[in-house]
Amino acid sequence: MAFDPTGSQSLILRHGLPAILRPLTADDRERVREAFHRLSPESAYLRFWTRFRELNPRFIKQLLSPGDNTHTTWVIILKENEDIPGVGGGSFWRLHDQPLNAEVSFTIADEFQNQGNGTILLATLWLHASSLGITHFIAHVLDENFVMRAWWDALGASASRHDREWLLSLPLDPSLLSSGPVANSLRRWLNQLGS
Ligand SMILES: CC(C)(COP(=O)(O)OP(=O)(O)OC[C@H]1O[C@@H](n2cnc3c(N)ncnc32)[C@H](O)[C@@H]1OP(=O)(O)O)[C@@H](O)C(=O)NCCC(=O)NCCS
Repeated sequence: MAFDPTGSQSLILRHGLPAILRPLTADDRERVREAFHRLSPESAYLRFWTRFRELNPRFIKQLLSPGDNTHTTWVIILKENEDIPGVGGGSFWRLHDQPLNAEVSFTIADEFQNQGNGTILLATLWLHASSLGITHFIAHVLDENFVMRAWWDALGASASRHDREWLLSLPLDPSLLSSGPVANSLRRWLNQLGS
């Protein structure tokens, strides 16, 4: 599959909104700060497992730093709308001790959840990570994160429970995806973004 890890793509989101999908850059600091600031406490808790008012500046710096092929963040941004800092973002971080695996995380703005945007970002991260030789994504999710657990279960991910969290693991092989509409949505985006 041809996939340009530095490029940006124009997209039409589920409700017909035109958007851009692109890697995060060093110029996005204020956008990231504002996007997390707008997040509901519930979504922030599911992402970071803690309650906070402001995003840790060290975390923002890590997100914005070029990762030397060890991590990356992709974002979806609305075209022609300066009021909304972002629809959502997704990152992968390659594991130092298991370089074929990368940990992924996603944050979709509350008003854009359950509209297919996490799926677009997963497909993007998948294509980018595959081009670097990564074969599996893992995700650590809280017990109460029913959306993540149900979503990845429907894709065919394996899951194991450890105290209050689940470790989800998804092989980056389209032939190992489950059948069904949730996996088919991901397949469609893998085909569209990879062609
Ligand atoms: C979890 C999260 C990333 C999912 O992103 P999203 O954009 O809402 O996901 P999508 O719309 O692509 O949905 C993927 C699948 O999950 C399921 N799903 C999503 N939201 C759902 C909801 N509210 N209720 C039930 N199922 C839901 C659907 O099966 C959907 O597939 P479909 O649209 O083909 O039916 C997003 O909800 C989020 O940012 N949550 C808060 C932070 C978080 O939990 N981050 C993950 C930690 S790693």
